[in-house]
Formats: sequence, C-alpha cells, structure tokens
Amino acid sequence: MLTGAGISAESGIPTFRGEDGLWRKYRAEQLATLSAFIQDPKLVWEWYDWRRGIIDTKEPNPGHEVLAGWEGFFPQFALITQNIDGLHQKAGSNNVTELHGNIWKQRCIEEKTISEYHDVPLKEIPPHCPECGALLRPHVVWFGESLDGTILQKSFMLSSTCDVMFAIGTSAVVQPAASLPLSAAEAGAKFIEINPDPTPLTSYADFSFRAKSGELLPLLDAELRRRSEEKKE
Ligand code: OAD
Repeated sequence: MLTGAGISAESGIPTFRGEDGLWRKYRAEQLATLSAFIQDPKLVWEWYDWRRGIIDTKEPNPGHEVLAGWEGFFPQFALITQNIDGLHQKAGSNNVTELHGNIWKQRCIEEKTISEYHDVPLKEIPPHCPECGALLRPHVVWFGESLDGTILQKSFMLSSTCDVMFAIGTSAVVQPAASLPLSAAEAGAKFIEINPDPTPLTSYADFSFRAKSGELLPLLDAELRRRSEEKKE
C-alpha cells in the first residue's frame, strides 16, 4: 500500500500538485530544500509552522480509517506513505513506513537526534536543540535529499514481495516512491490504483479506480468483509 497527499485531501489538507496544490502557490526551492533552510531557517520554519497549524486541526477521513482497519484484517498488511501529516497514525494505523519523514518531528542539524513536539504554534522559530543549542530542522525529506536508506530498502522489499499493491492518492511523479508500485507489479503483484485523475502509473495498473479514496475505500472494505464472511459460512 503506497499513499500520497490525495488520501488526506478529503481531510482538508492541501495536496502538492492539484488545482490548489502547495507547489502552485509556493516555490519548493525556497521552502523545501536544504539550501533554503541554510539561507533562511526562520522563513522555512514559519512555513512548516503554518502547515503544522493546518494539519493539527484536521481529522483522518474514512480512507485513512479503512487502511487502519486493514492492518488487522489482512495478515501481512504494510502501509508505506509519502505523507508527513501523521493522519494514518491518528486513524489508528500502528505500522506506518514514512518515506518522507514526519512534520511533527524535528532533527538536530549537529547531533542528528530526532525529537517529537506537537506545539502549535512553535514556541521558538527557528527552534534550537535543547541539548546542544544547534538549529533543529523539520524531520522531513527535502528536494535534492536522499531518503533514509533503511526505510527505502524496507519499502522496496515490502513492495517486491507483496501479492497486491495499492497506489492511493499519489501523482506518482516523485521518485523513488513512484517506483514502488512498479516494483510490485514487475514481481507479479496485482496493482490497483485509486485516484480521481490518471497518473504515469495508470497504464500499469490491473485496476484503476477514478475515485476519491475516502469514498471508494469504504465501499471496497465493505465488499471485502462481506466476501470474507461468505467464505466463513
Ligand atoms: P501530489 O499533490 O503530487 O498528488 C496528489 C494526488 O492525489 C493527485 O494525483 C490527485 O489527483 C490525487 N487526489 C486528489 N484528491 C484525491 C482524493 N480525494 N482521493 C484520492 N486521490 C486524490 O502528492 P504526492 O503524490 O503525495 O514530497 O506527492 C509526492 C511528494 O511530492 C510529496 O510527498 C512531497 C511532494 O513534494 C516531499 O515533500 C519530499
């Protein structure tokens, strides 16, 4: 299961590339790169503080809730997300592989220690490490940065060994995340896409649902549970 910003769209969190997408209004290179942070940590943190403020008021939608329920329903369920909003966990998912980090976590730029703060708004902008006084940065992956090697390796391992792969609410233009469904399909998994719009992955999908995930996933869930009950009888 790979999710992207689209799964949180129905919770009211802006996506990146849609009509009202963040990258239509803001320039990624001024806000989501290491060089932007080094040049102006206050500006970058203000942007993350603003986003934390938005995310803090939002609740998981039925799409997140179905995936949280599937953790117990399917024996080897794995959830990989590009999202940093923490809504999968808020919906009850316990085992989430976060490819791009988490907006509620900070990392000391000197010691590399990771901490979690939920203060909204932040008490200090930019925040500093309570241990060594160095700057803290958002624990997220910025443009031009590599993903955590262990997380990436685990994600490819999970994808290339699964029976069924879903790509939900992702435009599939950011690598290496966009390659995960392809690695699953190449290894023989059924590949299902849920997205109101076509993406570069659509032509590789066995099933492509042009639908909102918060509407389609509950329907799919009800049908799967009905069939599972039927089998038991
Ligand atoms: P995008 O904003 O690129 O794409 C969101 C996708 O969700 C689009 O394909 C929409 O059609 C789809 N969508 C919109 N509403 C939906 C709904 N209700 N149900 C299902 N799908 C819906 O977001 P991502 O693909 O997640 O990276 O973007 C990938 C990465 O680019 C992000 O993780 C972020 C960004 O730059 C970093 O910050 C490193």
